[in-house]
Amino acid sequence: MSILSAPPAVSVALGVDYFPGLLDRAAQEALRDEVRAVLIEAPLFRPRMPRTGKPFSVMMSNCGALGWVSDETGYRYQPAHPVTGRAWPRMPPRLVDIWIRLAPGAPPPEACLINLYDAKAKMGLHQDRDEQDLAAPVVSLSLGDTALFRLGGRERGGRTRSLRLESGDAIVLGGPARLAFHGIDRIAPNSSTLLNEGGRINLTLRRVTRRA
Ligand code: SIN
Ligand code: FE2
Repeated sequence: MSILSAPPAVSVALGVDYFPGLLDRAAQEALRDEVRAVLIEAPLFRPRMPRTGKPFSVMMSNCGALGWVSDETGYRYQPAHPVTGRAWPRMPPRLVDIWIRLAPGAPPPEACLINLYDAKAKMGLHQDRDEQDLAAPVVSLSLGDTALFRLGGRERGGRTRSLRLESGDAIVLGGPARLAFHGIDRIAPNSSTLLNEGGRINLTLRRVTRRA
């Protein structure tokens, strides 16, 4: 398979492409090690909900030109880590290659959000809508423990379905599903041996700004 072509996807819904087993074990290990290196430069922080300041159950960091952060003042992208004040580490080329394969024709990714889930962490249903460019898809990669992913439509309160995302799987939300509601109901502890400490890492690649 050419590095520039995507493997067969399972179309879960219009605009939702699921790539089970996109990354083999060696690729997962290489990516895991690159994420570790990013986290040394840009340590995990605990985001807080807008207004209430309630802490998220996941820890986060980012790489790429821009990083997504959340605190009492709101959700936003910014070029520096909220705690260290340093620029985010560059995006590993391996991630850019995956973007090119799964989001052909889209402008280059600017942000990779790193979410770390422990056995108890989850993420409520939400839309990814802090990007100016909603034409580019969102590419999401899973490493470590299996997650129960919930996927809805563009309206809150609509029908939802569940998907099990395993280590090495990718899911792409684009086109009519770019603003689909999604979240993580729970993690299946000890379902993967990829991460020594257990848990799950989700990497979300996004284009943020419109191409000039
Ligand atoms: C997210 O939507 O930010 C995370 C989704 C996931 O963890 O798979
Ligand atoms: Fe999201």
